[in-house]
Amino acid sequence: SRGGPLQGRKVVVTAGGTREPLDPVRYLTNRSSGKQGYAVAQAALDRGADVVLITTVDGLPWPSGARRVAVATAQEMLEAVLAECQNADVLIMAAAVADFRPATAAGQKIKKEGGAPTLTLAANPDILLEVARQRQRLGHPQVVVGFAAETENLLQNAQAKLARKSLTLMVANDVSATDAGFAVDTNRVTLISAGGAFETLPLMSKVEVAEKIVDRIVEILAGTEEE
Ligand code: PMT
Repeated sequence: SRGGPLQGRKVVVTAGGTREPLDPVRYLTNRSSGKQGYAVAQAALDRGADVVLITTVDGLPWPSGARRVAVATAQEMLEAVLAECQNADVLIMAAAVADFRPATAAGQKIKKEGGAPTLTLAANPDILLEVARQRQRLGHPQVVVGFAAETENLLQNAQAKLARKSLTLMVANDVSATDAGFAVDTNRVTLISAGGAFETLPLMSKVEVAEKIVDRIVEILAGTEEE
């Protein structure tokens, strides 16, 4: 066995932007590269957890020892997350889930001869809200961590999402600066706990951010057991 404070714990991590098909060759997505989620998966592995990484991403170095679940759309990610969370201790939703998808995906490639099409969008499910519902029934996962990608009113918006989505911990991610957030190797976050405590971290690598998040989760799990 590998040992470490998360030995025997199942940790589910999501990473990457979901891809919402428009036709067989096109999709709507966002700028998430998966780097932050992959770093979180690695940090959990390093602390001995059994890690399931649910991802839309190809081509990043795989966190060796994690189990891979490949998905594309928000709906597929929802189904994978709910299935894996039935017996998980921790969920960390680093993925950037598209809030909207094309209302219909054309069966054939849309042709330009038809003129510029009008896109009609439909709302995607909110994965963390569905997790909160399942968690009330099953009691798992004990710890649910969300990210909030914000360009303004970072802390207020993140705190509102933490409450609405019944999270244990929210990672408020300022994505307005070019050295933080989507795609780059560094990040700037504030950790907000359900009790309201804030910890604002300086600019650091996504690997270091991941270690801070996972170490906080270790503390939360230890505290839960003492109660
Ligand atoms: O992937 P990288 O390039 O490394 O970039 C990292 C990141 C910026 C993508 C990441 O750190 C981050 O902030 N991820 C969350 C992005 C996001 O979708 O934020 P949001 O504020 O829209 O969503 C809040 C939370 O709800 C997130 O945990 C999200 O996974 C979840 N969510 C969102 C929409 C939805 N339909 N269902 C969800 O569960």
